[in-house]
Amino acid sequence: MENSALKIKEWLSSHKIALPFLHVVLGSGLASSLDEYEKTQKDWTLKGVLSFSEIPGINPSTAPGHSAVYKFYEKNGKTLSFQTGRLHGYEGNSPQSVVKPLTVLCDLGVQKFILTNAAGSLQTHMKAGTAMIIDDQVNMTGLNPLTGPNDEKKGPRFPDMSQCYSPRINEILKKNLLQKKVEVHHGTYIGVNGPCFETAAEVKLFSNWGMGAVGMSTVFEAIALRHRGGEVGGISFLANMGTGLAEKAHEKLSGEEVLEEGKKKAPLILSAIFNSAEELI
Ligand code: HPA
Repeated sequence: MENSALKIKEWLSSHKIALPFLHVVLGSGLASSLDEYEKTQKDWTLKGVLSFSEIPGINPSTAPGHSAVYKFYEKNGKTLSFQTGRLHGYEGNSPQSVVKPLTVLCDLGVQKFILTNAAGSLQTHMKAGTAMIIDDQVNMTGLNPLTGPNDEKKGPRFPDMSQCYSPRINEILKKNLLQKKVEVHHGTYIGVNGPCFETAAEVKLFSNWGMGAVGMSTVFEAIALRHRGGEVGGISFLANMGTGLAEKAHEKLSGEEVLEEGKKKAPLILSAIFNSAEELI
């Protein structure tokens, strides 16, 4: 077992925390709201927080709005884990480093995952402040976390991607988002390297291709988890309209805007995720 997996295993055991039945990655805006949401819900008890910086082989996060920790909650002996913060390629991480916080959990036996992100909407009918269920993805980064020698014990050399995102988990997420009165769309997420936002020409291209949302994360994670046989659900929180698509198209995009929009809807989305988790035990 790799050092990172060993460390997490020993830490869970010393804190008497069972292996999670579901692991959720919270994207920008949603991540910073988990602490506050925690105070309003009583069902799940926080059992421990493990920082990436304590785990050998996992890089710390440098992205704004990303503290990069695992948080473990318990209810009736079942563990639900969250990852507030994730690693991105634009921070200088290799695709393999980006996926490490997730693949290590997969290697320990976690099988179900929900990936969330903040993204730019590529379709004018999908307004900022709404959510998009990720039906499928396009990896536009030119990179892949599975590049290099393949460990056949973990997954096949040429993994099938015909069902990258799980219709079952996505259906549960959609139902619970609608129950919380969050407007929900469906679409394809296109993952780019960043860190600059897209040009108007790029947004026009992706939009004409029929893509739903663009962002700088998630695609490597979904690929690596599917390689290992994980079941993955996905939500994009549409924090802003893609460059040039807003009614006031001259307005500039900023990282602060993305975080602020996320904060407003975050409690509803988090609540929908906790409710979805109940159905995935
Ligand atoms: N583009 C890329 N990544 C993003 C965006 C965007 O418009 N919004 C939030 N993350």
